[in-house]
Amino acid sequence: MSAGLATVAYIGATILFILSLGGLSNPETARRGNLFGIVGMTIAVLATVLGPRVTPAGYGWIVGALVVGGAIGLFAAKKVQMTQMPELVALMHSLVGLAACLVGFASYIDTSVQYSGAEKTIHEAEIYIGILIGAVTFSGSVIAFGKLSGKIGGKPLLLPARHWLNLAGLLVVIWFGREFLNAHGVAAGMTPLLVMTVIALLFGVHMVMAIGGADMPVVVSMLNSYSGWAAAATGFMLSNDLLIVVGALVGSSGAILSYIMCRAMNRNFISVIAGGFGTGGGTPAAAAGAQPAGEVVPVSAVETAEMLREAKNVIIVPGYGMAVAQAQHTVFEITKHLREKGVNVRFGIHPVAGRMPGHMNVLLAEAKVPYDIVLELDEINEDFPDTDVSMVIGANDIVNPAAQDDPASPIAGMPVLEVWKARHSIVMKRSMASGYAGVDNPLFYKDNNRMLFGDAKKMLDEVLVALKT
Ligand code: TAP
Repeated sequence: MSAGLATVAYIGATILFILSLGGLSNPETARRGNLFGIVGMTIAVLATVLGPRVTPAGYGWIVGALVVGGAIGLFAAKKVQMTQMPELVALMHSLVGLAACLVGFASYIDTSVQYSGAEKTIHEAEIYIGILIGAVTFSGSVIAFGKLSGKIGGKPLLLPARHWLNLAGLLVVIWFGREFLNAHGVAAGMTPLLVMTVIALLFGVHMVMAIGGADMPVVVSMLNSYSGWAAAATGFMLSNDLLIVVGALVGSSGAILSYIMCRAMNRNFISVIAGGFGTGGGTPAAAAGAQPAGEVVPVSAVETAEMLREAKNVIIVPGYGMAVAQAQHTVFEITKHLREKGVNVRFGIHPVAGRMPGHMNVLLAEAKVPYDIVLELDEINEDFPDTDVSMVIGANDIVNPAAQDDPASPIAGMPVLEVWKARHSIVMKRSMASGYAGVDNPLFYKDNNRMLFGDAKKMLDEVLVALKT
């Protein structure tokens, strides 16, 4: 393929990637967006492999790598559970970081292209910055994978004087950067490059270890952004325009997503990155503030069905537990049944419900729940006082009133879905255990709240049977 044709293909792929991002902004166009992305990436890979910079001698290696990489990707995609997606995404981000590091070292060692003067300085600066971003992305994503999969505890690791440690690391990296640019020859430059890589790896570990469970959504989207910048840096090192553009698209969209996440959680972005928030998750933790008082009132599936049958307005709030139980199809069946009986059923989606951005939207779309009854927090929160039943399915932190009432709570200030303002709320979960942020939930003890204990899928199946009889 000639250089001109490769450039045209790259421009085509770039346009498809932009259309893909545009499509992904709305559930109704998301499938089309995905398709644009797949076609764009296929064009990009073909144009690169068949382009002027790859000699036929390299085809064997490329095809071998494609087969091995493709097989691993296919295996992972088939095997991974929906609830494990965030971990998989974190692991994939780590691979982008690793690739940036490896490409950086390879471009530095490769002396087949000789640079001189300003060009040499620019190329070496690209390598230094590329490896820096790549190493932070790699180690940060590996730790994020560990935290999201529960292999590492969610509790933040707060080293004494951690901000000073970070600052010292930054200054050392800048100093070694100067040494690297002034070094004569590959051997002399290798030491500062390696020292910087080790510091960057440690920084990535430190940065994510210092972030508590409840702020992990921001970390996931931030590492997504970093992986984009790492890809863009790789593009600079390889002089590949498409990689630069795609990396910048991923980097900037990840940064926007992180900003949206921070707003959704009422967090200051810089203070999240600086670290130190939240507690370990998943245990029946003691609340940071006062223990909630009152009694918990359990209900049966039959009683739940009765309350739903008598309601005119119902809001369903799904959370991580719905994903674990894979209850979305039964949720759809119940929604369909109630709507046929004239009940106004809508869904309230919190921006950080589940374990990844858009988690609930994907599950509900998969179950064919109509998009127009799936509403964002801002769109539906005012409607709870006019609602007869709010049904919480495997959600916890996102419906915790302590975020509003208890300034000492680790989730204080996070906007939550005000389900307790409905005439009745029903919380469906297996036990009294806390959610991801590890904080107790006073909602369970409110007078108008009922608890339907059990696996969400099993209980909803029972509710559906009761509704139909
Ligand atoms: P959580 O607060 O984690 O609560 C989920 C609840 O589901 C748990 O309390 C659990 O209680 C219940 N559950 C688990 N399996 C269940 C099953 N099979 N059937 C019924 N219930 C089940 O979830 P949420 O309300 O969706 O909030 C999300 C949390 O995750 C937030 O703290 C958020 O910051 C964090 N987070 C979000 C993301 C993104 S990007 N969305 C990423 C990382 C972390 P039982 O054990 O008693 O059943």
